Amino acid sequence: MSTRVLNKSNIWLTGASSGIGEALVRELAKHGHKLVITGRRQQPLDELAGIWPEQIHTAVADTTSRDQLAALSGTLNHFGDLDTVILNAGTCEYVDIADYDSAIIEANLTTNVLGTARCLDIALPALRATRAKGKPARVVIVSSSAWWFPFSRAEGYGASKAALTYLAQSLRADLAAEGIEVVVVSPGFVKTPLTDRNDFPMPFMVSAEEAAHRIHQGLAKGKREIAFPRRFTWTLKALNCLPQTMIDRMAASMARKTDTPS
Ligand SMILES: NC(=O)c1ccc[n+]([C@@H]2O[C@H](COP(=O)([O-])OP(=O)(O)OC[C@H]3O[C@@H](n4cnc5c(N)ncnc54)[C@H](OP(=O)(O)O)[C@@H]3O)[C@@H](O)[C@H]2O)c1
Repeated sequence: MSTRVLNKSNIWLTGASSGIGEALVRELAKHGHKLVITGRRQQPLDELAGIWPEQIHTAVADTTSRDQLAALSGTLNHFGDLDTVILNAGTCEYVDIADYDSAIIEANLTTNVLGTARCLDIALPALRATRAKGKPARVVIVSSSAWWFPFSRAEGYGASKAALTYLAQSLRADLAAEGIEVVVVSPGFVKTPLTDRNDFPMPFMVSAEEAAHRIHQGLAKGKREIAFPRRFTWTLKALNCLPQTMIDRMAASMARKTDTPS
């Protein structure tokens, strides 16, 4: 059974307080869907709920906290049977190779992989209960296309998104028999507070609204893999066909020249 988001869905969306998540809330609410939206900051969530009070319910939850997620589980069915979970909350921290610190790797993995995995602790029982009633159910995981190329300084972020994509695709295999779909979203550069911190060129960047539109369109079409913009993702796929030595040379030439540690 397809869980196409064309029908009115009951959705839980994490990382709703800014960037892609916020734009996606606006896109989905405009199309009549009902959403439980979460993030660590209450105020931006309240602003969205103020626009669509009948369709949006807010809750504060850090996705890395098992306790906060457990407290949230009772609200996931606020609007009725939960049929779609969009796990979008994430972070991006870059390694400074001259001052290498494994804490950067840990921060990326904790939020992007463990945070998403912990959300599944409460999402899967709710989605299974929905499936038990014969209704569709779907998990959408926002990963990234960044890990398709060994970008400089992205040891932590790229590793986290590679792991997250594997987690999602493996989950897809395990949930297939239950009829719970798993969708992977792999954006290129999107203009958000996360990328506003970057001081390097970001080719083919799209707005958060465009990203939200592409994600909504992909879900409406029942796609299991949503990657955009094509100019960027196709370029990365083409580069991946090159011999590894050429990829390594290209990646090294793009790496920032850092001062050697004293
Ligand atoms: N922007 C891009 O170019 C790009 C490209 C590919 C993939 N992505 C992915 O898209 C997702 C959204 O990124 P964005 O660009 O929209 O960034 P953003 O504007 O910084 O938004 C990140 C969201 O995640 C939430 N969040 C972060 N850590 C959290 C935690 N521990 N618990 C709960 N919520 C948390 C933030 O809310 P609070 O601060 O309120 O908690 C915020 O709502 C991320 O997974 C990112 O990796 C982004």
